[in-house]
Amino acid sequence: MKNLPFLISGIFATLLFSWMGVVLGTQIQYGDLERSSSELDENGNILSDETLFPEPLVGLAQIGEEVYTEMGCSHCHTQQVRKKGMGSDFERGWGKRQSVARDYILQSRVLLGSYRIGQDLANVGDRDYDRNWHMLHFYNPQITSPNSNMPPYSFLFDYKKIKGQKSLDALDFSMDTSNLYKPEEGFEVVPTTRAKALVEYMMSLNQDYELPEMKFTALE
Ligand code: HEC
Repeated sequence: MKNLPFLISGIFATLLFSWMGVVLGTQIQYGDLERSSSELDENGNILSDETLFPEPLVGLAQIGEEVYTEMGCSHCHTQQVRKKGMGSDFERGWGKRQSVARDYILQSRVLLGSYRIGQDLANVGDRDYDRNWHMLHFYNPQITSPNSNMPPYSFLFDYKKIKGQKSLDALDFSMDTSNLYKPEEGFEVVPTTRAKALVEYMMSLNQDYELPEMKFTALE
């Protein structure tokens, strides 16, 4: 084995080169990205008295991001709007512009996703759904979206007997015209903190801001 040192240095060099390509290259390209105002001043500096984007998640939405990760939602959903002309994200109304690296700088675990069994969720907070819609959809997607193949997350809710008054946060099933999913008379469905957090996270997902490097894309 007189070539052992040569072999080991070869392995080391291969690992070093790939590390430089993947980690160092990316760090040099994106490492100093920070939050930015939509416009820059004439010297190309951030306007610090304007709102800086992306804005951090606040309150329950932060916990919701963890629930989203734990539940593996990103196995079926992406959070990245593709460039106009690549796919039909714009035509489907999934966003006003393509997503760029700066949109993700505050995320410790970037939830880009790779498969789209369901819609892209980068801008789901901008769609016409209220909190009760999301709750019913998580409790059982068949209520809001018949024939959906999204799994129900009913374990994030408590099914319980109404004691005295109905709970203030009990789900409103008036949308369930099929009457198949409504709780029985005298019972109610109440979201747990994790369900509430997930819904707040959904409501806060919104890339509805322009960045110096990416303005809204015009639809013909
Ligand atoms: C097995 C794949 C699958 C998984 C896992 C999944 N979804 Fe879905 N999701 C879908 C499909 C398919 C649809 C479209 C039908 C519907 O609305 O239910 C959808 C729709 C949605 C919508 C409505 C989007 C819109 O614009 O109408 C939201 C919000 C959503 N999912 C959130 C989640 C969250 C949060 C999780 C994790 C807790 C999750 N999904 C897990 C497949 C999935």
